Amino acid sequence: MKNTMTMIDNRNGKSYEFNIKDATRGPSVVDIGSFYAQTGMFTYDNGFTSTASCKSTITFIDGEKGELRYRGIKIEELATKHNYLETCYLLLNSELPNKEALVDFDLELRHRSLLHENLKNIFATFPTDAHPMAALSAATAALSAFYYSHLNIADENDYQEMARRIIAKMPTLAAFAYRHSIGAPFIQPDIERSFTENFLYMLRAYPGGKMHIGKDGEHKIKEIEIKALDTIFTLHADHEQNASTTTVRGVASTGAHPYVAISAGISALWGRAHGGANESVIKQLEMIGSVDKVDEFIARAKDPDDAFRLMGFGHRVYKNFDPRAKILKNLQDQLKDELNLDSNLMKIANKIEEIALNDEYFISRKLYPNIDFYSGIILTALQIPKSMFTPIFVIGRTVGWITQWIEFKKDKENKIARPRQLYLGK
Ligand code: ACO
Repeated sequence: MKNTMTMIDNRNGKSYEFNIKDATRGPSVVDIGSFYAQTGMFTYDNGFTSTASCKSTITFIDGEKGELRYRGIKIEELATKHNYLETCYLLLNSELPNKEALVDFDLELRHRSLLHENLKNIFATFPTDAHPMAALSAATAALSAFYYSHLNIADENDYQEMARRIIAKMPTLAAFAYRHSIGAPFIQPDIERSFTENFLYMLRAYPGGKMHIGKDGEHKIKEIEIKALDTIFTLHADHEQNASTTTVRGVASTGAHPYVAISAGISALWGRAHGGANESVIKQLEMIGSVDKVDEFIARAKDPDDAFRLMGFGHRVYKNFDPRAKILKNLQDQLKDELNLDSNLMKIANKIEEIALNDEYFISRKLYPNIDFYSGIILTALQIPKSMFTPIFVIGRTVGWITQWIEFKKDKENKIARPRQLYLGK
């Protein structure tokens, strides 16, 4: 049997043959690289619903089953048995670290987490009411100027160091963006704190490093807060060829610096159809306000003449429960009492979920809660303001973007991303 597909142009009966490439998991692809040369036509796939843009060995999603794996390991295992730094190591090195490798990796990230003092000026130029995502994207692009001579884009030996540097610095960049937005002095990381704890420290600390002091004494960062945020980072670490990752690969394809590619990825993530949804979900839950209003908003979401959409519902790839959403829902239930989760928002969210999962409109369109539906309630309990929800997504996803950048660069068959068009103008 030939591993090919034959297409017939019914206008003239001509047939064309294309090779099929099999995947190790999931759907095979038809290689249409010669389509134009053979037929004189382009293919059209608005929004890339059926198009594989690259080969990859990093992340696998089975959207029908609701399955997600990084380097072959299921997300449930990573979220419950491993931490975010182990997950970063796995994505970058294709295997989990042993104890010694993890200690080295952790120490290196701690040492690289500081920001050049001049970078403070980038944040200072932004108005204080600017969204932290704007400052984060700009500062990440600016970082390319600070690490330009350190990188030979053609030398694979430089890639891992560039990766570890940007992963280490992203929490500091995000914390600086936040502190500027509230007019607070910048706090550099504390070398004695772990990756995830350090981020909470940089958001919360007073100059000199003290945490908030109440009548009951100093409010130290709780282990449970670190664990919750670390899980959120792990769940966001990579998600194959989504809009922001595709943007990163597109910029990579022109030969640009990896940090400007990641800056472009940050911009792509900001939109509410993508990473910006986590902020929109909580704003929407607050707007709905009470459980008895849920029906009214569900009706609006179903009305074809109303642009209103239920934020945190639906996904291009998952046509089943997003496995990350399941993990966060469990985490939310575990944290309910210990972290004083906003029970009103939780009640509204639970009611929306209950109605939507039993409603024909959502069932027939396979619209399930996605990761953003639950993350906001947990982040709110960690005292993280809404404007920082998407920057937190950025921190988690940085490892995915840089791993995908490396994979693109190492692919001997890589090409500049240059799609064609169906021209309908004059
Ligand atoms: N609320 C109500 N209806 C919806 C929703 C929703 N959240 N999402 C999709 N639909 C409906 C559409 O109106 C459409 O209905 P129709 O067939 O009657 O026209 C149908 O479901 C298919 O929707 P599309 O927009 O074609 O699906 P697509 O795969 O292109 O979009 C997306 C996926 C962008 C995520 C969409 O579901 C959405 O806007 N969701 C809300 C925003 C959100 O939560 N984004 C986060 C995604 S996860 C992430 O990026 C981390």
